[in-house]
Amino acid sequence: MIKDMNYISSFVIACVALGYILVSGRVVFAEPPKPDPLFLELEAMYRGDKDYKQLPFVPENPHKRLKNGPTLKNVTHKANKEWLKKWISNPGEMVPNARMPRLMLSDDEIEAVLAYLTSIADKELPKQEWEPYLLKNEDDMADDEYESMDELVSGGKAIWGRARCNICHPVKGKGGAVGVGPDLGAVAEKVNRDWLYLWIREPQSYFHQTQMPRYRFKDDELRQLVEYLMKDWDFRPEEEETAGTDKVSESKGAEEDTEDKSSIIPEGTLVEKGKRIIELNRCFICHEIEGVSELLPVRSEKSEPTNEFEKLLNDIRCMTCHNIQGNGGTFAPELTHEGSKLKRSWIKGFVETPDIIRPLLQQMPKFNLTSEEAETAANFVEEFFVSGEFLLDKFADIKSTEEEISKGKELYEAKGCKTCHTIEGGGVVGPNLKRVGDRLENGFIFFHLKDPHHETPDAVEPNYNLTDEEATAITHFLMSCKSKE
Ligand code: HEC
Ligand code: HEC
Ligand code: HEC
Ligand code: HEC
Repeated sequence: MIKDMNYISSFVIACVALGYILVSGRVVFAEPPKPDPLFLELEAMYRGDKDYKQLPFVPENPHKRLKNGPTLKNVTHKANKEWLKKWISNPGEMVPNARMPRLMLSDDEIEAVLAYLTSIADKELPKQEWEPYLLKNEDDMADDEYESMDELVSGGKAIWGRARCNICHPVKGKGGAVGVGPDLGAVAEKVNRDWLYLWIREPQSYFHQTQMPRYRFKDDELRQLVEYLMKDWDFRPEEEETAGTDKVSESKGAEEDTEDKSSIIPEGTLVEKGKRIIELNRCFICHEIEGVSELLPVRSEKSEPTNEFEKLLNDIRCMTCHNIQGNGGTFAPELTHEGSKLKRSWIKGFVETPDIIRPLLQQMPKFNLTSEEAETAANFVEEFFVSGEFLLDKFADIKSTEEEISKGKELYEAKGCKTCHTIEGGGVVGPNLKRVGDRLENGFIFFHLKDPHHETPDAVEPNYNLTDEEATAITHFLMSCKSKE
């Protein structure tokens, strides 16, 4: 061991010395072999050779969580018992995109597991007040009750659309471009409505490490969403559509659930058996389960964020979709240099009310941020998500002449940019450039045209090898593409 250490340290010293000699150029060697330029280029690409500005905090990456599955602490308050039984017995049959393996437990074993899960749960979760008619079976509703219910449902459907829940959640296999949320195609028969309300209002209060954003919904919006998810056929399993009318209403299901629990809890032995089954099946590798998880070392809870933008990142879970300095998702544009690319005023407006820049499913949901929150985000992005490489000053205050603009426009047409971009008609492969002058820093446009792959090495935009004059002219033209005030 000691020998090894000696060997390693003399090797390190030799390397440092050699490096010093090479760098200082005191000894003349034969020309060292030059690496292939292609290799350097590839290396830069894979190393992510980008300059970063040190952030005032370490951003939490929602994709790197300790456990792959959700906490099971209060799952018996979340999902009804019938659903839980069927789930544990065969997850793939319940949800098309289930990641949990089938563990081949018998019905008795599942019964014991549920007894244990019931024993570790809180007494109850906060209850909501619901208009009594909403808890009725649909067929027992009076006409006006049905109509009010229906109104809530269609309100909820509109909110669901604006919030783009479908971008993360497939419904019966459709949607889910981000690739993180469970399929909600049968969620109405799984969850309890009180739980659903709380979940959408504050996902992290139930599951601290969730990847789901906390939208800023008002109480009435939450109620509409809950009604939509509980009542619309989209969220009920397919076969029920034909089974017809004698459906047990969800609230009744929840009551049965509590009755069942009281009959299970007193049997301490069943609870102990459940705990052993959970240990044997290693459920705790993927789930936080009180009393069992201790078998695996648990990471200490991160301290509460103090920076306002960090709070926002955490709360909205921006990094489920966006990457920052090599951490986070890859679904949405990387934010590392967005401050040098985008104009501050545009960022503020966009995060508050996202516009559609890149069509084809890649759209940012509206989280209902307040104006102050949007301001916080825009200021932070401008200050910290910057690159020294874009020549922003060169184009900071320049004025365009009509001549330059029309020269740029001609080039834009001639180079076939509109195959992929839209200004007045065009393609949708690349971002919409209709108001690109409001959106992008002038200097970034020039930089991008000279080297389209610098920021996004995998983008399909060709490198036209434009001269500085050509790129300048196109920059002037794109700068002039603004909203008319
Ligand atoms: C290999 C990882 C893994 C193992 C092992 C595992 N699960 Fe899961 N489980 C998951 C994942 C992931 C989910 C989330 C749904 C999905 O995507 O499948 C889940 C979901 C659940 C749910 C539904 C939770 C909810 O909030 O909807 C229950 C209940 C559950 N698991 C129980 C168990 C039990 C009990 C065991 C042991 C017998 C177990 N799991 C073992 C990965 C696992
Ligand atoms: C950024 C992706 C994302 C968006 C957007 C999103 N969710 Fe989620 N949602 C998740 C994830 C991921 C989970 C599962 C918990 C986890 O693993 O963090 C989840 C869980 C859920 C669940 C529980 C499902 C179950 O079977 O346990 C419901 C209900 C839900 N989300 C509703 C919504 C609604 C309604 C919206 C829109 C207002 C929405 N989600 C938007 C990612 C998202
Ligand atoms: C559900 C995934 C998702 C979440 C969560 C999310 N975004 Fe986005 N964001 C997107 C998508 C997709 C786009 C691209 C939209 C477009 O081009 O139309 C985008 C675009 C942006 C842009 C403009 C980037 C550009 O170059 O056009 C900014 C800035 C931004 N998001 C900031 C944020 C911030 C800050 C948060 C958290 C407060 C956040 N996003 C949360 C999906 C998301
Ligand atoms: C083959 C399709 C294609 C062609 C042709 C093309 N682009 Fe692009 N362009 C893209 C894509 C894809 C992106 C998005 C890259 C990214 O996400 O950063 C892009 C990005 C851009 C951007 C940055 C926009 C932003 O929001 O990040 C500008 C400006 C731009 N292109 C201008 C042009 C001009 C000018 C031409 C013609 C000289 C052109 N493009 C030709 C596909 C194309």
